[in-house]
Amino acid sequence: MAAFYPLPVTQDLPTLRTKLQGLLRFLRDALSISNAHTVDFYTESVWERLVDLSPETVLAALKPAARAEAEAEARFSEARPLLGAEAGSGITDFPRIFCETSQRLVDVEAFALAAKCCSVQNLGICTSLEQLLAALRGNKKQRTGENLKPNEFMNMKKSHEVQAMSELICSIADYYGIKQVIDLGSGKGYLSSFLSLKYGLNVYGIDSSNSNTHGAKERNRKLKKHWKLYHTQSRVDVNGMALKMAKEKKVQHEMKYKVDTEKVCNSSSTKQEKMTNSDFLPDYSGSVISDIRIQMENLHTQPYEEENLCFVDAFSLIDFLPVDAIEPVSSLQISNREMSEANKGRRKMVSQTSESNIYSPLTSFITADSELHDIIKDLEDCLMVGLHTCGDLAPNTLRIFTSKPEIKGVCSVGCCYHLLSEEFEKEHKECTEEKWGFPMCQYLKEEQWCCGHNARMSACLALERVTLGQGLSTESLFYRAVLQDIIKEYYGITKCSQHVGKIYSKCSSFLDYVRRSLKKLGLDETKLPETTIMDYYEKYKPRMKELEAFNMRH
Ligand SMILES: C[S@@+](CC[C@H](N)C(=O)[O-])C[C@H]1O[C@@H](n2cnc3c(N)ncnc32)[C@H](O)[C@@H]1O
Repeated sequence: MAAFYPLPVTQDLPTLRTKLQGLLRFLRDALSISNAHTVDFYTESVWERLVDLSPETVLAALKPAARAEAEAEARFSEARPLLGAEAGSGITDFPRIFCETSQRLVDVEAFALAAKCCSVQNLGICTSLEQLLAALRGNKKQRTGENLKPNEFMNMKKSHEVQAMSELICSIADYYGIKQVIDLGSGKGYLSSFLSLKYGLNVYGIDSSNSNTHGAKERNRKLKKHWKLYHTQSRVDVNGMALKMAKEKKVQHEMKYKVDTEKVCNSSSTKQEKMTNSDFLPDYSGSVISDIRIQMENLHTQPYEEENLCFVDAFSLIDFLPVDAIEPVSSLQISNREMSEANKGRRKMVSQTSESNIYSPLTSFITADSELHDIIKDLEDCLMVGLHTCGDLAPNTLRIFTSKPEIKGVCSVGCCYHLLSEEFEKEHKECTEEKWGFPMCQYLKEEQWCCGHNARMSACLALERVTLGQGLSTESLFYRAVLQDIIKEYYGITKCSQHVGKIYSKCSSFLDYVRRSLKKLGLDETKLPETTIMDYYEKYKPRMKELEAFNMRH
């Protein structure tokens, strides 16, 4: 249990408070920008209200940065001393960002710089994953295969998340000698099954959705069948399989790289998304790889109902094999006799590891007051984890952690911040909820801090995607904002309960967009002449740049 490196020390409370105060100072002015909705861009005069600059100035300052992140990084590093945050007043050292009287944005470069300095990474309050892993592992060998690369079957994002998180969870579990893990909001069990099959942990996956639990059970049952299939192929040379898999992975990698590149270029992913594993794989018909592949395909063509955030995913068998099941290709050079002895030993190990894997998917809606003993009969010292814990599930995970002595550690990554319940949001004043998702800390409670729904929605956007221009197109936002003015002026409606949805890509023109949207909203589109629709378009077209510039705020 003892590590050679001490665990990183968290900063003391006064330091954290000072940093939080600096962040709040910036956010107090910046939140109005984060909370503005592009749908209301023209109807609520968002640009005039919030920005005291020309759209061209904003675009000139932000566009190059968006296109060349590296350049921005360099500028940021140069400018960072400005912050002097460690010692002093943080972002107050920036030139004036907002006008004191009008509160409008007057310096976009300082705004971007301050936002960057206020990011979680740059506030200097976090411990890096590498540092934490080094401290947890100490001089111990990593239990799993450093030589196993992220798999190519799985959606890249999911693969990255599951692998990075599993590694950390396994290190914490090893450090504290823990075998039991509770995965809250486990969905279809990607993380849970990975932790159990690859790391031999006993995992309880809890999800509020029954269909997810069923899906997870079915998926796990099939994965276990793969294990059996793998073991019964005893005549198959494990090394040979490793070589084939390595070759296969290389080809997949090349093909996947090609597909990804094409995806970025065409920005049309529909076709690729429908591809099955066989679209990426070379032909190994008749081999064990082919059997495995067929089974893997069956596994992934199961029509599971997608709820919440869903991912196109698939695990390759190689990623479920314990590290000792697959020998590095270089071992092919050893003699046949040595190899057969090695294979015997290896098969034994694989068999032992697979039989000790336990993953139990359960259905339960978790709240801050959930009694884990009622849900898990053999609850013991455990870790509580969660990948993409939606809305209030993330804060409630932390609350459960602090209240249950059996839970020795927590590793949770929240998501869907728009689903967080906010205590100080005006709309919810009449609500009598006791445990709000936000804020959790006493300091923010005293401040009665509120982020607001739109700001939380913005927080869900993947910055990398927006930076690469993979967010919503300016034209689609423009169409929606102009439509809002038509709805307001022509139909006298300010609040719609219906949503227009994602129809932009299906429309041939602005006219088509407006007609289809009005139909969808249940409004009589026949009373609106074509010329009127086009008049609105012409009226706002010169101001499209404002919207483009405003959208760069992310
Ligand atoms: C975004 S999904 C993540 C699923 C899975 N962890 C993953 O990464 O693929 C969030 C999951 O949490 C579940 N969930 C949300 N709130 C919950 C609650 N209060 N108790 C239990 N499960 C919850 C949802 O049903 C959903 O499956």
